[in-house]
Amino acid sequence: MVAYKSKMVERIRLPSREQRERNLEAAGYNLFNLPSEEVFVDLLTDSGTGAMSDAQWAALIRGDESYAGSRSFEELEEAVADVMGFSNVVPTHQGRGAENVLYGALLSAGDVVPNNTHFDTTRAHISNQDADPVDCPVEFAHDPDADEPFKGNFSVERARAVVDEHGAERIPVVVQTITNNSAAGQAVSVENTRKVREFADEIDATFVIDACRFAENAYFVSQREGEFGDASIADIAREQLGYADALVMSGKKDGLVNAGGFVATDDDALFEQCKQRAILYEGFPTYGGMAGRDVAAMAVGLREAVEDAYLEDRIEQVREFGAQLAAVGVPVYTPTSGHAVYIDAGELFPHLDAAEFPGQVLACELYREGGVRGVELGSFAFPDTDRPELVRLAVPRRTYHREHFDHVVETAEAVLEKRETVSGLQLASDPVMPEIRHFTAELEPVPSSQ
Ligand code: F0G
Repeated sequence: MVAYKSKMVERIRLPSREQRERNLEAAGYNLFNLPSEEVFVDLLTDSGTGAMSDAQWAALIRGDESYAGSRSFEELEEAVADVMGFSNVVPTHQGRGAENVLYGALLSAGDVVPNNTHFDTTRAHISNQDADPVDCPVEFAHDPDADEPFKGNFSVERARAVVDEHGAERIPVVVQTITNNSAAGQAVSVENTRKVREFADEIDATFVIDACRFAENAYFVSQREGEFGDASIADIAREQLGYADALVMSGKKDGLVNAGGFVATDDDALFEQCKQRAILYEGFPTYGGMAGRDVAAMAVGLREAVEDAYLEDRIEQVREFGAQLAAVGVPVYTPTSGHAVYIDAGELFPHLDAAEFPGQVLACELYREGGVRGVELGSFAFPDTDRPELVRLAVPRRTYHREHFDHVVETAEAVLEKRETVSGLQLASDPVMPEIRHFTAELEPVPSSQ
């Protein structure tokens, strides 16, 4: 059921088809290069793009900008303790700041870190410590059609194989990402979190949860994991997070703010280490790279994120969007995640092979046909992997309405109608940093063979 009405609005415009064609060319067929004003419905990311509540805007005005001992920080500490169950908090400018602080404190060169699936900044921060990130998704994670409730789970079996290969002493940290963004945003069960806790104990490793979308995950647990059928979202979230030794959090997702993040832990020694690193990289530990007002808004956002009415409104919106797309014949990854619909572009364009970037082609065609911006997560973003050619249409929180999604569905239908005539793309520039080429690389249409 809908849980909000609008109090402030932002004008959007659909540029003409000719303008969209020109924009695509000028952007080098890379939608990260588009000015946002040229986008009609922006589904690039759910990160920092949501609408804040009136209570959050009120908190913003009252934010305490003191360098040290800010009252807004105390509010954040209380919210993290109440909502997530952790007593020590180190605020950072966003999630990757938290990753830098925490993984810099926990890792040394030569370490190996299993995770259900590393998000790209997680992978990069672990590699930045000269450690080796290893993905341990469950077998059916990359099967868009497998009918399983927890395709985001961590495979303890795969992680055991990593221990056999490298030895437990090289694995000081085990990470579980909930929901599993880089595996189609799939949910993780509490039972799986308990198993990862036991595994971490067995090998004497620190257990970290990447909690970016912890509230959305708790909603799925309440719907799909029998044991929790009668539990509140807030209770499920606290229980699941409670198995971890430390959390890395991007407030830009389930913190319901436009900027911010933090590390949380009950381990006092680790907290001290993180504080020292935060002073170096982020800021004094009572503001840590955020304005006091943003800290205050995040404290309110965390509490709102676990309200049943909010989550029902949010997850239902995304689910309905996925169902609408599937109903017109778009091959969507199932089940739908909490923050995005993922489309299988490989299935949509069987005549294009991976080298022609079918996902990037679909992302560009959605922009050409309707000014919609999504993001490719296939062979352009992840070269040399055997992932499906996915395009993610991420849904900003509390931002778009039914009419926006109707427009996206009509746009996708227009792409479906001309699917056989669409040609591939090729790289037009050599990226400086190949691992993150999808953010900046320019492409061009593959010349037709006729
Ligand atoms: N971990 C996960 C699982 C994420 O999805 C993200 C960001 C981060 C860490 C880093 O957080 O952006 O605040 O520094 N994901 C965004 C996305 C960017 O579009 O999925 P950040």
